[in-house]
Amino acid sequence: MQAAALYLDLMKKILTNSIYEDPNAGPWQAPAYARPLRENGQDWPLVAHTMIGLKRLDNLQYCIERALADRVPGDLIETGVWRGGAVIFMRATLKAHGVTDRRVLVADSFEGLPEPDPAQFPEDAGDSHHRHPYLAVSLEQVRANFERYGLLDEQVVFLKGWFRDTLPRVPADRLAVLRLDGDMYESTWDALRHLYPKLSVGGYVIVDDYKVVPGCRAAVEAFRRQQGIVDPIQDIDWAGVYWRRGA
Ligand SMILES: C[S@@+](CC[C@H](N)C(=O)[O-])C[C@H]1O[C@@H](n2cnc3c(N)ncnc32)[C@H](O)[C@@H]1O
Repeated sequence: MQAAALYLDLMKKILTNSIYEDPNAGPWQAPAYARPLRENGQDWPLVAHTMIGLKRLDNLQYCIERALADRVPGDLIETGVWRGGAVIFMRATLKAHGVTDRRVLVADSFEGLPEPDPAQFPEDAGDSHHRHPYLAVSLEQVRANFERYGLLDEQVVFLKGWFRDTLPRVPADRLAVLRLDGDMYESTWDALRHLYPKLSVGGYVIVDDYKVVPGCRAAVEAFRRQQGIVDPIQDIDWAGVYWRRGA
């Protein structure tokens, strides 16, 4: 393996903490660390900097490296970053390939998910994500996490606030990779509505929760229908999907 590939492989292991094996803090599985759950991004790590698991990190690396190899123009963005693991990995991938003319955009409220607004988004009625303090990680904490890896620099741009307020003013003309991880219908819809028009042809959309959160899937399906998008949706693992923008 080349040095860049070795670095990124180690980053994935550290970001998921499959090295020191911290326990699960989520209510759905036993607390003890379980390798298959962490690989598949199925637990809520107590300490690790990402909850998306190794397979979705592999997919993120694949999408970025393809976009770089094919010279697809644009920056990289994740909407919904939590402790920052996936965006730290985006920055690491740019660094590993010596890319200095693309940025990583880091969009989050940094205070958890919004309360559902069922009048506007009936699919979010009863959604309880906003009640989990575990999902609220401050901007200072995420910046500190970038710093720990030596990856906090001018190629990282933070967009703090609700997506409905920040994404219409996203400071990028074009995007090459758009990673959606906001769980709810509203969060997914707002990200697609404001960001998809900036996604370059040949760029990638990754939807972290398509197969686990019905509201997220409904937003993606409604948007694809409305826009007439027929690019095939590809599976990543039990939860996530992606597609490549054809036209
Ligand atoms: C499941 S976590 C993201 C996990 C992360 N991608 C990782 O690598 O582990 C969801 C994040 O989305 C954010 N979020 C969800 N909806 C949002 C919205 N409408 N506006 C701003 N932030 C939102 C939450 O604050 C939370 O940090």
